[in-house]
Amino acid sequence: MAKRNAHFLFLMLFLLGIHLQEINLCNGALNSSCNPVERSALVEFKQGLEDTTNRLSSWMGQDCCTWEGVACSNRTGHVIKLDLRNPHPFSDIDYLPYNEWSLGGELNPSLLGLKYLKYLDLSMNYFGGADIPKFMGSFYHLQYLNLSRAGLGGLLPHQFGNLSNLQYLDLYNDLEPYFGAQVREFRIDDAIWISGLSSLRQLNMENVNLQNVSNWLRALNTLPSIEEIHLSSCGIEHVQLSLPHVNFTSLALLDLSYNSIGSSIPTWLFNISGLQYLDLSHNNFTGPIPSLFGNLVSLSDLNLAENYFIKGAIPISLRNLCKLQSLKLWGINISMDLSELNVIFSGCIKISLEILELPDAGLTGQLPEWLGELKRL
Ligand SMILES: *[C@@H]1O[C@H](CO)[C@@H](O)[C@H](O)[C@H]1NC(C)=O
Ligand SMILES: *[C@@H]1O[C@H](CO)[C@@H](O)[C@H](O)[C@H]1NC(C)=O
Ligand SMILES: *[C@@H]1O[C@H](CO)[C@@H](O)[C@H](O)[C@H]1NC(C)=O
Ligand SMILES: *[C@@H]1O[C@H](CO)[C@@H](O)[C@H](O)[C@H]1NC(C)=O
Ligand SMILES: *[C@@H]1O[C@H](CO)[C@@H](O)[C@H](O)[C@H]1NC(C)=O
Ligand SMILES: *[C@@H]1O[C@H](CO)[C@@H](O)[C@H](O)[C@H]1NC(C)=O
Ligand SMILES: *[C@@H]1O[C@H](CO)[C@@H](O)[C@H](O)[C@H]1NC(C)=O
Ligand SMILES: *[C@@H]1O[C@H](CO)[C@@H](O)[C@H](O)[C@H]1NC(C)=O
Ligand SMILES: *[C@@H]1O[C@H](CO)[C@@H](O)[C@H](O)[C@H]1NC(C)=O
Repeated sequence: MAKRNAHFLFLMLFLLGIHLQEINLCNGALNSSCNPVERSALVEFKQGLEDTTNRLSSWMGQDCCTWEGVACSNRTGHVIKLDLRNPHPFSDIDYLPYNEWSLGGELNPSLLGLKYLKYLDLSMNYFGGADIPKFMGSFYHLQYLNLSRAGLGGLLPHQFGNLSNLQYLDLYNDLEPYFGAQVREFRIDDAIWISGLSSLRQLNMENVNLQNVSNWLRALNTLPSIEEIHLSSCGIEHVQLSLPHVNFTSLALLDLSYNSIGSSIPTWLFNISGLQYLDLSHNNFTGPIPSLFGNLVSLSDLNLAENYFIKGAIPISLRNLCKLQSLKLWGINISMDLSELNVIFSGCIKISLEILELPDAGLTGQLPEWLGELKRL
């Protein structure tokens, strides 16, 4: 009898257990209260951080989904977003708020407990010039990663190539020392891992050192969805002039400014017909300015300033660029009569142009009257 009662009691407890669990699950789904494993991952992560202004004071209590910077999925309850961006933007005038609100310390691998993380923003903090932890390449669900101005540096880990769901990668690293701290640059030794980022839409590698990397273009050309590539100030000296197949036709923005590329303008550029923004300024580009620029009919911004083009004319084909709002040509060698210039700007280009910056010298003749009609000059 006693045994039977014990069985009964056990059964009751068992059913009650299931019932309680259901309530829990139900609550979890309703208000996305936090998964305990993910909660302890965050607690441990916080222990590694230095947080002088106590930005993370809300990181207490059971429901980590309500903590500052943390967001959970409404459907699964898992932590899917961690946004620890410094809320005070960097300012040259007063860097004190930025400085004080910057998180520092160590990036604890406990973060890997957030298995379902889709969004990680650590920008505008200062992690002591440390290397990017290799474990960051293991967040397989990651769609957004911002390590811009985070006070990280060194060789970019090849493990990043595992982030096949990543759509946005921002590694812009301002090399100005901020608040007296030493800033280390990011480096790439071999760009092949970039081709693993097969969902990538925007890539910002401004200031990342690519000096000795020969395969960056080949790697980028494998990305079928890439829309924006920022490679300004990367120490690039060489670029392939032609490609066997131009794959990145979704590209709308390409910034290669402030490098020292010393060749003629690469021809593959002219196969990216959707290109809207192209900045090749402050390089050592030589040769004539190709008339193929007239093929890039989607262009709204074109900057060719400060290069070593051979002395010559601006191609007449530019008159086809009906969407061109900004054209910058200063600091290049032009020899042209302004009446020729008038022919170019008699096309539809004249209507859309808002900014025109012409070379100081090389133009002869009377300035055309319509130049005064430009909205800004
Ligand atoms: C979620 O539910 C639990 C238990 O009912 C409650 O304590 C908690 O405050 C709720 N969280 C939110 C964000 O509503
Ligand atoms: C989750 O729920 C919150 C509050 O109802 C809502 O603001 C948010 O947009 C939802 N998120 C998603 C991804 O549906
Ligand atoms: C990354 O963060 C920086 C600074 O916080 C911001 O300016 C930039 O727009 C972000 N990048 C992306 C791709 O959202
Ligand atoms: C992640 O990337 C590294 C380096 O490219 C590679 O060795 C490793 O096998 C990858 N890990 C997984 C789980 O795919
Ligand atoms: C590139 O190679 C040159 C010559 O070997 C070397 O001096 C330089 O430090 C290298 N740069 C980087 C960023 O590795
Ligand atoms: C171009 O894209 C196709 C399909 O996405 C791919 O099979 C091919 O390898 C790519 N070519 C290059 C040169 O990356
Ligand atoms: C670029 O376009 C031209 C014609 O506009 C075509 O003949 C050529 O094959 C294309 N090149 C590549 C690499 O796709
Ligand atoms: C680019 O031009 C600058 C200035 O003339 C020069 O110092 C530098 O060596 C050149 N770089 C290359 C790769 O030709
Ligand atoms: C501009 O052209 C002139 C004459 O061809 C040449 O002497 C000069 O070096 C050129 N300047 C630049 C910056 O290429």
